[in-house]
Amino acid sequence: VVDISKLYGQSGRFTYDPGFTSTASCESKITFIDGEAGVLLHRGYPIDQLAEKGDFIETCYLLLEGELPTESQYQEFERAITYHTMVHEQLNYLYRGFRRDAHPMAIMTGVVGALSAFYHDSTDINDPEQRMIASRRLIAKMPTIAAMAYKYSMGQPFVYPRNELSYAENFLHMCFAVPAEDYKVDPVLARAMDRIFILHADHEQNASTSTVRLAGSSGANPFACIAAGIACLWGPSHGGANEAALNMLMEIGSVDRIPEYVQKAKDKNDPFRLMGFGHRVYKNYDPRAKVMQQTCHEVLNTLGIKDDPLLNVAMELEKIALEDEYFVEKKLYPNIDFYSGITLRALGFPTTMFTVLFALARTVGWIAQWKEMIEDPSQRIGRPRQLYTGYPERPYVGRGER
Ligand code: ACO
Repeated sequence: VVDISKLYGQSGRFTYDPGFTSTASCESKITFIDGEAGVLLHRGYPIDQLAEKGDFIETCYLLLEGELPTESQYQEFERAITYHTMVHEQLNYLYRGFRRDAHPMAIMTGVVGALSAFYHDSTDINDPEQRMIASRRLIAKMPTIAAMAYKYSMGQPFVYPRNELSYAENFLHMCFAVPAEDYKVDPVLARAMDRIFILHADHEQNASTSTVRLAGSSGANPFACIAAGIACLWGPSHGGANEAALNMLMEIGSVDRIPEYVQKAKDKNDPFRLMGFGHRVYKNYDPRAKVMQQTCHEVLNTLGIKDDPLLNVAMELEKIALEDEYFVEKKLYPNIDFYSGITLRALGFPTTMFTVLFALARTVGWIAQWKEMIEDPSQRIGRPRQLYTGYPERPYVGRGER
C-alpha cells in the first residue's frame, strides 16, 4: 500500500501491485487454483478427472452453468452448439481480405471482432437470452473460424462443419479434409484433441481472461470482448508460449545441446528463458502438463512415431531442469505449453496454429467469466489507478524556446 499524498497532486492511499501478483480483481465461482500444491479445479472438479472421464462439451456446460449436465441437458446443449457451427457466408470475404501469409492469430482477432457485425441479435448484454445465444454461438463457431484461418493459410478451400461429428472430430475434419479425398478422423486423435481443449478451457484470472473481463466491464458486446482476449493471448508470455516452446525445442535440436540452453536460461545477462517452464501461479508441476505429457505419448504412439527427437529433447530437458538448483529454487516446473507443441505438431498443425487452438478452447472460459461478471450485481467498470511519477505541473514552452 502506497501513501500517494507524498506524490504530486495525489491524495489518499492505494495498492500498487505491478503485474497484479497479489490483487484479486473479482470474485468468482468458476475455477480454483492452488499453485503451491499444483491443483486446478473447475466448479470443484479436478482437471485430471474432467480430462480423463469427461469431454469438452460437458466441460463447457460445467463452466457456463455451474454443474455437470444430466443426460438430457447434455443432449440439448450439444444440439445447440451443433446448430450454431456455421458462420455467415459473408465472412468468407473477410478472410479473403487478409494476406495468405498473415499469422492466423491476426486473422482470428479480426474475424472474431467482426462477429458483432453479423450477429446483432445477440449483442444486448442486458438480455439473458441474448447472452446465452452469444455464448453458444462463440463456442460453436470458434472451431469453424479457426479451421477457416488454417485452410486460408494453406490456400485450400474452406470445409463446412459436419454436425454428425463430435466437437473435436468436426474440428479436425474441417482442418484436414480436402476435396476428393476420403478423410476419416482417428478416434484416438479426436479424443486427444478433445482432451487438449478441456485442458485449456479456463484458468481463472490470467492475462487474457482479465482482458475479457475488463473489456466487458464497460458494457462492450461479448464478441468484441473475446476478440480482446484473443489479442492478449497471442503474446509469447501467455498463449504464444506453446509455439515458442516448440521453436525452442527445435532450436536445441539434440540432447547434447541441452546444458548450453539451461545455462543460457540461468544467465541474467541473457534474455533467453526456457519456454514452457515457470508459471505465475503454479509453484509446483502444472497439473495440466501431466495430462498433456500423457496425451503426447498417446498421440505419438497412435501415429506410430517412435523415438521422436523433439520428445527426447523435451523429456531430457525436463529432467535436467528439475534437478538444477536454479529451477528448483525458483520453483520453475513445466507448464501446459511444454508438451502441447509436440502433441499439436504430431496431430498435423503448423506452429502458427498452436495459439489459435488455445484461443478456440479458452473461449468457453472467457465467455463463462464474462457472463459471471455481467450477472454479478456488484459489477462496476474496471478502472485501475496509477502511481504517477512524472513531472509536476509546468508552463508550456514555445517550440523556438525549447
Ligand atoms: N526460464 C528461466 N528463468 C525463468 C523462467 C524461465 N522460463 N521463468 C521465470 N524465470 C525466472 C525469472 O528470470 C525470475 O528470476 P529472478 O527472480 O532472478 O529475476 C524468476 O524466475 C521469476 O520470474 P518472473 O518473470 O518474475 O515470474 P512471472 O510470474 O512474472 O512470470 C512466466 C511467469 C511469464 C510464465 C515466466 O515463468 C515465463 O516467462 N515463462 C516462459 C514462458 C511460458 O512458458 N509462458 C507460459 C505460461 S502458461 C500459459 O500462459 C498457458
